[in-house]
Amino acid sequence: MAAKINSNFGNVSESYLFAEVARLVAEFQKANPDRKVIRMGIGDVTRPLAKTVVKAMQDAAAEQGKTETFHGYGPEQGYDFLKDSIRKYYADYGVTLDPDEIFISDGAKSDCGNILNIFAEDNLVLVPDPVYPVYVDTNTMDGRRVIFAEANEANGFLPMPEDIKTDEVPDIIYLCSPNNPTGAVYDHSQLKVWVDYANAHGSVILFDAAYECFVTGDMPHSIFEIEGAKTCAIEICSFSKTAGFTGTRCGYTVVPLDLVRDGRSLNKMWLRRQCTKFNGTAYIVQRGAAAVFTPEGEKEVKENIDYYRGNAKIMTDTMDKLGIFYTGGKNSPYVWFKCPNGMESWEFFRVLLNELGIVGTPGAGFGPAGKNFFRLTAFSTREATEEAMKKFCEYFR
Ligand code: MLT
Repeated sequence: MAAKINSNFGNVSESYLFAEVARLVAEFQKANPDRKVIRMGIGDVTRPLAKTVVKAMQDAAAEQGKTETFHGYGPEQGYDFLKDSIRKYYADYGVTLDPDEIFISDGAKSDCGNILNIFAEDNLVLVPDPVYPVYVDTNTMDGRRVIFAEANEANGFLPMPEDIKTDEVPDIIYLCSPNNPTGAVYDHSQLKVWVDYANAHGSVILFDAAYECFVTGDMPHSIFEIEGAKTCAIEICSFSKTAGFTGTRCGYTVVPLDLVRDGRSLNKMWLRRQCTKFNGTAYIVQRGAAAVFTPEGEKEVKENIDYYRGNAKIMTDTMDKLGIFYTGGKNSPYVWFKCPNGMESWEFFRVLLNELGIVGTPGAGFGPAGKNFFRLTAFSTREATEEAMKKFCEYFR
């Protein structure tokens, strides 16, 4: 008998969205070695790490080189010094977290996939359409059934329970706010509706807060700002967009102690899973992440976020000038817009790449409702953003 493979992999597309975009760009560059390409596709940052973060990691590396200060295996769920900083950050939004509710990891993407280990395969999963493709792919790989709630102009790209177009009640509900890719943000009252819905039905909300640092004004940064969320939600967050850790890798997941299903604590299950399959995030990286919350770190990180906000403004000004419908760009590093001239998103991807040398992400890659939409990221350099928008303006005017 030969080993049996996971046949669910037959139900996901051959390659991951951003890997496919990278492949097409590499192909283009091979065929056109002299053409310059401006990358506004994957949400990868371009600003270097904050000085305070680098210094903290250098100091931590030096500690690792001395017997007296060397750290071997750390706690699987993360060091207290980082958890304490995160707790203080949440306290600013009126959220009290127990240290045992915070689990430090190597990033939100890993946690997004791994958290599914604690859920049975026969759960029904609700995913907004469009949304970050990892939610659908990871559940499909496990064999879970996924249904969609469309995010569209009519609901402000923020699907609510009434947008579930079936009588079935989802067991797992993904919410991403600020949303990737649309940039739409749920307000407190909208999140309260989802929290009440989940508590009433025993569903669990997986809340992706990876872009919370872009939230402005009085909008929620965390689902735990909502009363009742601790009995129905898990929150996944990241230092990638907040502090430029895309290549450094650090994130965290909050699993409340009060979250119980089927008589079992999901917090204890996740702890058991992490202790078994994960040996913790590198000490040096956790020291760098903790530096993000120091006064100097906060200031430097905010400068970088403001820089990306400036890029987003250049992009939205361009869309305004051209009369192109868009969302995002305000509480989010992404601008989500309608492809000009009624084009479909993969067709528009090719036009943008071939004619202007600009890489973006086709809306269809985020779900069927994204078919005529396109996403550009504000994480490029200022110069590249200005150049891209100038070309865009000249071509589509
Ligand atoms: C994106 O471009 O959607 C994100 O950068 C992908 C990710 O965070 O994994």
